[in-house]
Amino acid sequence: MIIISISYSIHQMIKNELDKKRRKALDELEDKKAALYMCFPRLDEIEDEIIRAGFRYNKAILMGTVNAENAAEELSRVIGELKRERAQILSANGYPEDYLMPVYECSKCSDTGIISSPGGERDTLCICYKQLLLDYLYNNSNLCISGNDGFVSFNTELYPDIVDEKRYGIKTSPRRQILGILESCKKFTANFTDPETRNLLFCGPTGTGKTFMAGCIAMELMKAGHTVLYFSAPALFNTIYEYRYNSGNNEDWDPGAYKNILETELLIIDDLGTEAPTATRYAELLTILDSRISSDVRSPRKTIISTNIDLRSLFEYYDERIVSRITGSFDIYPFAGNDIRNILR
Ligand SMILES: Nc1ncnc2c1ncn2[C@@H]1O[C@H](COP(=O)(O)OP(=O)(O)OP(=O)(O)O)[C@@H](O)[C@H]1O
Ligand SMILES: [Mg+2]
Ligand SMILES: [Zn+2]
Repeated sequence: MIIISISYSIHQMIKNELDKKRRKALDELEDKKAALYMCFPRLDEIEDEIIRAGFRYNKAILMGTVNAENAAEELSRVIGELKRERAQILSANGYPEDYLMPVYECSKCSDTGIISSPGGERDTLCICYKQLLLDYLYNNSNLCISGNDGFVSFNTELYPDIVDEKRYGIKTSPRRQILGILESCKKFTANFTDPETRNLLFCGPTGTGKTFMAGCIAMELMKAGHTVLYFSAPALFNTIYEYRYNSGNNEDWDPGAYKNILETELLIIDDLGTEAPTATRYAELLTILDSRISSDVRSPRKTIISTNIDLRSLFEYYDERIVSRITGSFDIYPFAGNDIRNILR
């Protein structure tokens, strides 16, 4: 179901990838056959006889010269005999019996990407297809989250279970706080395609897991087949700047990177506030957020922003218009705790 939301071109690319694999398996088989038939010409004859038997059978049925049932029986007897002879030659010469079968990378689906059901109604995508999809999504996400396998990797024990408002800036313990946030992030992921699902803003001091949490969400969504794009705020503004500078001026310019920012299903803008603030950047951020509004369940457009400037300073730092726009369509989650970089060191 979710898979349908992925653009046609990604499916087409994966299909081409699988076609290549199948062709490779069949080409390798042809090479193997050619070498083997040189040594054992009888094997070549057997293949030929199997094909001719099939033709004869079809022809006889079409001409109505035989009873279909008898002919089918006769055919399978003839072919069975030929195959037995072939297996004998192979094993007598030290080859495995399946030596003349194509060797696919995925034995489950023979590199078709699809596990077929008898009637075809319940065909399902093979695990290898899903993996290719995940690889594709991951390679195009800018994300570097090795070792992050989604929410299971998120460790809440790293957050102290102590209430200390002065130190952590919240009335509850960082542990309680993060458990609540984790719950909300799971909901965000589960209801990702719901137009009512709001964007997320993570704020809080350095090393409290904001980027890591965004990575967990990204991983979960990619596993479900969604497109994800990660940008640090400076890199995002750079890409926008390059687009503005080149589009219209430079015919060879590929606006793909900019278009992806608008079209990706999940956009992560990390470390907002680390870029130098200028009025143009405010305007650009608004343009991006505005064009990323989508009411189409088949193609959700959600954004996660992380920042380590607190909200009050965000108001000072960014234009009021931006901040109210952000607070309007984003749910705000204050991360709290000690710097996990120091704890893990
Ligand atoms: N809940 C967690 N479970 C496991 N590892 C975590 C968790 N949270 C953070 N980490 C690890 O701690 C380090 C710091 O976390 P992270 O980069 O997410 O902090 P941050 O809040 O984004 O900080 P900054 O504001 O400086 O960007 C990372 O290396 C990350 O792998
Ligand atoms: Mg971070
Ligand atoms: Zn497969």
